[in-house]
Amino acid sequence: MGAGKSTIGEEVARQSGRPFVDLDREIERRHGAIAALFESSEPTFRRSEEQLAAQVLSATRPGVIALGGGAVLSERTRRLLREHAFTVWIDVEIGEAWNRVRGGDRPLARDETSFRRLFEEERRPLYDSTSDDVASSVEDVLLAALQIRVARGQLAELRLPESSALIADEHVLGLQPLPLQPQEVHRVPRGEAAKTPAVLERLWRELELGRDGTIVAYGGGSTTDVAGLAAATYLRGVRWLAVPTTLLGQVDAAIGGKTAIDLSAGKNLVGAIHYPAAVVSDPDVLATLTEAQRREGLAEVVKTGLLAERPLWELDDDAMIRATASFKAAVCLGDPFDRGRRAILNLGHTFAHALEAAAGYEGLMHGNAVALGLLAALRLSGRSTDVVEDVLGPRPVAVDRDRAWAALGRDKKAGLVLLGDDGPRWDVRLPDSEVRRALDELIAD
Ligand SMILES: NC(=O)c1ccc[n+]([C@@H]2O[C@H](COP(=O)([O-])OP(=O)(O)OC[C@H]3O[C@@H](n4cnc5c(N)ncnc54)[C@H](O)[C@@H]3O)[C@@H](O)[C@H]2O)c1
Repeated sequence: MGAGKSTIGEEVARQSGRPFVDLDREIERRHGAIAALFESSEPTFRRSEEQLAAQVLSATRPGVIALGGGAVLSERTRRLLREHAFTVWIDVEIGEAWNRVRGGDRPLARDETSFRRLFEEERRPLYDSTSDDVASSVEDVLLAALQIRVARGQLAELRLPESSALIADEHVLGLQPLPLQPQEVHRVPRGEAAKTPAVLERLWRELELGRDGTIVAYGGGSTTDVAGLAAATYLRGVRWLAVPTTLLGQVDAAIGGKTAIDLSAGKNLVGAIHYPAAVVSDPDVLATLTEAQRREGLAEVVKTGLLAERPLWELDDDAMIRATASFKAAVCLGDPFDRGRRAILNLGHTFAHALEAAAGYEGLMHGNAVALGLLAALRLSGRSTDVVEDVLGPRPVAVDRDRAWAALGRDKKAGLVLLGDDGPRWDVRLPDSEVRRALDELIAD
């Protein structure tokens, strides 16, 4: 009671685009005021609560449910939660909860002593045993839902499941060895060179894990992409854990289950969507990144800030990683297999890919390409480009204009992502002349 389940739940539902049910509100809608129901018969109230919980927990469309504080008293509800839900305990200091509910009409919050006793003796043990995770904010819940843990120093304490194979960027492993003894260690080349059919095939041959084993990916987005695809395919799929070591990995690449390797015809052409069981993001590991590598991640932070309409780039590293990761988590929760709204995460990327393809994937950092792409997306959205200029300072690139336009043609068919007055829009079609003008402005003579 008073933890904020309804407020947090409603916002989690809004951000993840899932339907929301507030159990107490729904009971009141159907049966009248809870205080009165409770007064006439607590068992009758509990029965309605249990029936309604069973109904919403068996819905086929994933939703967000705010349970009443006493709903977990029912053994049946606890079982359904274990079977059908990811359950987060919104933990709030008991004195704070009391301050929020005192003087209200809640039947079990009439005096502080019994309120505290109810929590400590009766409910806390049930919350503890029923919940999958503990959270105290919207951001916490979204991160918990995809098991993304952002905390400094956690790599030093990382414990691996019994049977695990580490797939690590050899450069990162040399710079920052992990204090772990996994059964198997597989080194992959640094950066994009890891994302080849040959490396993937070598991993398939070398892995010795059984089907209950876990692959642990340690490196930037290139490593998590190839290790995640190895996890998706080896023995028809095993669990994997992402331990991203770049800013780009922690705010973007390790989140959302997309894994891939490259073919000579283009990047990320073979892949799978296979969510990691958890993402372990330790900001301390970023200390050895070069400024150029950091900027690769910063471009995605700015993109996310534009989508979220929050200046995420102004936050300190820990808060920036958490906020950016939680935004992506929300979008992925709403569209886990990339069939709709998740396309908004491509803001600026259609232009970026065209410039990279025209440059032959050489001499143009991805972050700079994304920054340029954001300029085009903002101009076409009728928005100011100041933030991108100030924070990322993109430089126009010297590539062949016709080649870039031809490359854009392939991507553009899927539509553009633009920022509208009521939020991001995807699948936007504009006249070729406008799109070409926006592309041309990004290219140096
Ligand atoms: N799956 C997705 O959703 C997704 C999203 C975005 C990008 N990606 C992919 O991510 C890749 C880019 O990943 P990236 O930019 O994270 O880097 P990366 O894995 O390509 O690594 C870049 C360089 O940074 C080094 N490095 C990594 N961690 C370091 C550390 N802590 N200290 C010092 N050096 C370190 C690497 O050794 C390498 O030389 C691309 O292949 C892209 O396609 C995937």
